[in-house]
Amino acid sequence: MLYTLKEIFNKYKDSAIASFNVYNLETIQAVANAAKLEDKPVIFAFGESYFRYANIEDIAFAVKRIVKELELDAVLHLDHAKKIESIRLALNNNFTSVMYDGSALILDENIRNTIVARNLSKDFGASLEAEIGYLNSEDGNEDYIISSKDFTDRNIAKEFSEKTSVDALAISVGNVHGIYKGTPSLDLQRIKEIYELVNIPLVLHGSSGIDEYQINMAIKNGIRKINVNTDLAVCAVGAMKERINKSNRPERLEKLLEIATREMQSVARKYIRMINSNN
Ligand code: 13P
Repeated sequence: MLYTLKEIFNKYKDSAIASFNVYNLETIQAVANAAKLEDKPVIFAFGESYFRYANIEDIAFAVKRIVKELELDAVLHLDHAKKIESIRLALNNNFTSVMYDGSALILDENIRNTIVARNLSKDFGASLEAEIGYLNSEDGNEDYIISSKDFTDRNIAKEFSEKTSVDALAISVGNVHGIYKGTPSLDLQRIKEIYELVNIPLVLHGSSGIDEYQINMAIKNGIRKINVNTDLAVCAVGAMKERINKSNRPERLEKLLEIATREMQSVARKYIRMINSNN
């Protein structure tokens, strides 16, 4: 069944939950099957910047249907909403969790807007995630080099969480969306210190490509939600490319999509296992 983020954190107290971005039937099927096969809870995340690729009502319908059919413990989450109207739209479509992302704004404005998002999500009985500290754009396309000056400031995180009472806080600790330039290196000590100050579940965006040791240490230090998107997308395209390159005749789309779905399912299973490997 569908839970709010807060409820799923409470139900699975000792573990972190994998969150995968979905934006069509293939991504939804792949994520749902992976969660079922691993027998773990999962978060289906649909981002505001993906509204152009799929209708939110269709996404909500498809996620709700498959969660019911496979008897999953899951969350239907709106990822990176910069507009309050997107949050309202998601809540009207039974999303059980939403993220307001005001991380690019000045602190006061981020706090003000996050409080509006919090009041709105509360009215619908949904959870709210927000972000403090800067990350590059959600699709990883922005050519951005992360520097430690963008990392989440511990005291600002404390002030932000106290003033907004969010259910989960996304932080910047060396993580970026998309493909890493070089080897990712998380500031694990900062995660611990922020968690000690805010005492609410922390969220790691940009988890594609981070190794198992760092994922496990991040979880140990306070991360409860691990966001993955790029790795599924890149591996799916790789698998389709391989098939096209090997074939000497025109390929049919439904076959390629089947290959892509299978690949995404296998990558999602890998992350679910990695996240749960230290429990
Ligand atoms: P990646 O695309 O880098 O895996 O990040 C996903 C994410 O953080 C979605 O919010």
